Formats: sequence, C-alpha cells, structure tokens
Amino acid sequence: MNDRRPSTYVCVVTGASRGIGKSTAAALAARGATVVTLGRDPSRNTIACDLASFASIRAAAAEITARWPRIDLLVNNAGVQHLHRTVSADGIEATLAVNHLAPFLLTRLLLPALEAAAPARVLTVSSSLARWGRIDFSDLQQTRRYNGTRAYLQSKLANVMFTLSLAERLTTRGVSAVCVYPGLVATDLLRERWWWRAAWLRPLWRAVFLHPDAAAQAVVAAATVTPPGADCCITLGGRTVPAPPLARDPEQRRRLWDATVRLAGVDYPT
Ligand SMILES: NC(=O)c1ccc[n+]([C@@H]2O[C@H](COP(=O)([O-])OP(=O)(O)OC[C@H]3O[C@@H](n4cnc5c(N)ncnc54)[C@H](OP(=O)(O)O)[C@@H]3O)[C@@H](O)[C@H]2O)c1
Repeated sequence: MNDRRPSTYVCVVTGASRGIGKSTAAALAARGATVVTLGRDPSRNTIACDLASFASIRAAAAEITARWPRIDLLVNNAGVQHLHRTVSADGIEATLAVNHLAPFLLTRLLLPALEAAAPARVLTVSSSLARWGRIDFSDLQQTRRYNGTRAYLQSKLANVMFTLSLAERLTTRGVSAVCVYPGLVATDLLRERWWWRAAWLRPLWRAVFLHPDAAAQAVVAAATVTPPGADCCITLGGRTVPAPPLARDPEQRRRLWDATVRLAGVDYPT
C-alpha cells in the first residue's frame, strides 16, 4: 500500500464472496483500505458482476470507474474449476473465460483508473500447479476432449503468462503486475469433486490444506512487496519463486496474448 491515507487506498477484489477472495478483502479492509468487491451475488458484493460475461464485465468496470476513478490495487482472484465442460455467456469455455479472459478484460478496462493512482498494482492469483499446465494453442477451449484439471492448469499458467506480459507492457505507466501463488487452500474451489465434498474426508483436507485467511496473507503481502524480478511470482511468506519455464518463453507469451486479444476483443495500449 502506498503512503496516501488508508481510506483513500482503493482495492478492487474479484471473487470475494467466499474462499481466498473473501479473506483477502477482509484483510485489506482491516488495514484501512476501501475494498470494492466484485461478484455474482449482489447481496454479498459492492458491484454485481458475472465474470463469465464480457457485457457484465464491461458494465461493472464502467460503474467502478465512475465511482472510484483512482484504483490502487486490483486483485484478480475469482476462479473456477469445472468437472464438465461449460460455456460462458459468450459461448467460450468457462474455465478459460472466468480464469483468464476476465482478468485480461477487467484489467484493461480499469487501466485508466490504475494509472490515475500510480504507483498502482495488478495482482493475479495463480497457483504453484501452473507449472504442470500447457497452453493448447490448437484447441484453447478444449472443444475436442475436455478435461477439467487440464483446463484449470492451462488457465493458471495463462495467469502467469498474462502477468509477465502485462508487467513488461506497463513498466512506463506506473502500474506493476504481480502473480501470486496462495498455496493449497481449503475452499469451495473443488466442490464438484466427490472426494472433496465427502464429509468423512473433510477433516483430512482441513488438516492438510491452508485456511483461506493464511492464503490471504500471501495475497496481501504480494500487494506490498517490491515487484519480483522479471519472470518471477510471489508465494507464501512473500517469497519470490521462478515462473514456470513455459511462462518465461516470450514466444509462448506472445502467442497467448494474440489469442487472448482475439477472444476478448480488446488489446492494450503499446
Ligand atoms: N483453493 C486453492 O487451493 C487454490 C490454490 C491455488 C490458487 N487458487 C486460486 O485462488 C482463487 C480463488 O479460489 P478459491 O480457492 O478461493 O475458490 P472459491 O472458494 O471457489 O472462490 C471462488 C470465487 O470466485 C468467484 N467466481 C467464480 N465464478 C465467477 C463468475 N462467473 N463471476 C464472478 N465471480 C465468480 C466465486 O463467486 P461465487 O460465490 O458467486 O461462486 C467465489 O467468490 C482462484 O483463482 C483459484 O484458482 C486456489
């Protein structure tokens, strides 16, 4: 957080109705920030937004920038992991749409407000599992054969690649971009898996996985640390870790950026 009065430090957090996002929003609010939460349930969020709809993202971004023309921190946290293939309101595979295209579009639309608050930061919540991901450029939306884990890992790798590309593009604009790995956390993310829902296994998951409040500490730490060197991410305890090798490949990043621009229908200023 910068040195402005805390209440004027404005954070936008997506997916704050539960899990890591909810704990992150609470931790930022406890530090005195103004926290604008973005999510589907209007009763639990400042701004109603379905991140699986480009129109909804555009409407939400317009409302946010009208009410908060300066944004210090954007936390792209919302995420899904679907067992079966579903599509967004725009007909795009939902994991790709919510986990990757939504942060790309939302960040672009909020960029003027972030620049107005410079030095500002865009945090995107990825996963240490991103290293197992692959970008399938021949079938980004898994139309041929869908696998929920594969779609999720691809999207989390895309989060890292997006962040590294964004950091490069925004160096002269006073906005830093940082990717954070929150650890393995006991949330509702895996709720479509029977072994996660099974009551008799819950104590095991609670023992092995982190509480969302602990993960939120990593996210909040990433909001304040000096941006890690090129090609790195932040994990628990504010530690810097190398990004997955595929994310460090400029050609892979360029291909993903171009494919994303085509799907999201928007590019960033150069
Ligand atoms: N849990 C882990 O072990 C873990 C590990 C590494 C990274 N992560 C990442 O952490 C982030 C948060 O996940 P979580 O574990 O906290 O999961 P979670 O408890 O399932 O929370 C996900 C959040 O995303 C929101 N969301 C999902 N689809 C949305 C949509 N279409 N529009 C708006 N909001 C939507 C959900 O809102 P609703 O309440 O409306 O569903 C919810 O607030 C994700 O990016 C995930 O990939 C999690």
